[in-house]
Amino acid sequence: MNNNFPQLGMAGFSASFVGQNLISMHGTNPQPFTQGELEQTIGRSFADILSDVNLGFAPDEGTLALRQTLSDFHYSQTAYFEIMTFAGAQEALFCVYNALLQKGDKVLAVSPVYQPLLQIPLNLGCEVSTIELDCKDNWSLDLNKVEKYFKAGCRLFVINFPHNPTGATLTLIEFDALISLCRQYGVWLLSDEVFRGIEHKTLYQLPTVADSYEKGMSVGVISKGYAVPGIRVGWLACHNTQLLKKVNEVKGYLSVCNSQIDEALAAEVLKYPDKLSQRNLAIILKNKKQLSQLTHVQGHEVNVIIPKVGCCVFALLKDESISTESVARLVANETGFLIFPSNLFCTQVKGFRIGFGTNKFSNFINANNP
Ligand SMILES: Cc1ncc(COP(=O)(O)O)c(C=O)c1O
Repeated sequence: MNNNFPQLGMAGFSASFVGQNLISMHGTNPQPFTQGELEQTIGRSFADILSDVNLGFAPDEGTLALRQTLSDFHYSQTAYFEIMTFAGAQEALFCVYNALLQKGDKVLAVSPVYQPLLQIPLNLGCEVSTIELDCKDNWSLDLNKVEKYFKAGCRLFVINFPHNPTGATLTLIEFDALISLCRQYGVWLLSDEVFRGIEHKTLYQLPTVADSYEKGMSVGVISKGYAVPGIRVGWLACHNTQLLKKVNEVKGYLSVCNSQIDEALAAEVLKYPDKLSQRNLAIILKNKKQLSQLTHVQGHEVNVIIPKVGCCVFALLKDESISTESVARLVANETGFLIFPSNLFCTQVKGFRIGFGTNKFSNFINANNP
């Protein structure tokens, strides 16, 4: 057992139900596309896209075609050579943390948090602090508190908007203020933007951090905001090419390079962010209408802050004396649905992460209504 890699909470919790065939209701991505549906949405067949693909190794930093698509369709101030591709966002995160951080560095992350965002720097020996989003104020981020950490020597601030697990986001004014604050204190800003693309209205979409800040790093992926987890492609965008070179060296210990097939498909599919969003939002917005019915989880009262972005919520448990893990286990055993309890998200706030982006969401609502 290698103690440098303690098991992640979500993996451990899911593993405890192996063999029970639970229906995932904790997911953060919209209902994945089928191949046929995706071909219809973008108006091209996989056979056509792949007919000329070279099946050698892809370049370590990603194919030119994919990096160009990302630069053209997902960024306005970031060139193809400032973008690197990976086997998912997870690999991009692992590589960027390893390239940037040293033992003892001070890292600040927003919580509740997708655990790897906090666990990878902890594994590297960093001093990691969290700042809780305020569940009493629409999951807002207090920039005055952030500044206190910056004053105390924070090297890296990690954000994730649209946010997993709460569905929170920033206003444009808050986003601009945060960038100014990072610039003032010279803090690196790692922005996990994997849910970009599923904002419920276009006006809720924030600029990318890579486009906005010279020490900003944006991580994106095709699996979450675009609902195609079967193509395993994520990316990192940032203006610091020295850092990208180091990131590439770390990637040399992992996948080295992506599959040419995945990269060729992603290079085409990601040319149509609006069409993908349209299909995903049709499901999300329909299910969102049912969120007001999410008042109980196995008889326990919950409160849901209706989000403006993404397709997961953090249902707050009213009775804070109850163990969220035991309720989530009850849900699994009584209804066959898997939801995630708050102890998996490194937070003091009690509740459950529940995804509302899939076709099974109404079944879950019906199974939990008192
Ligand atoms: C906030 C966040 N970042 C990164 C990832 C990793 O995405 P992927 O598994 O597609 O690489 C996830 C996956 O759930 C996530 O929720």
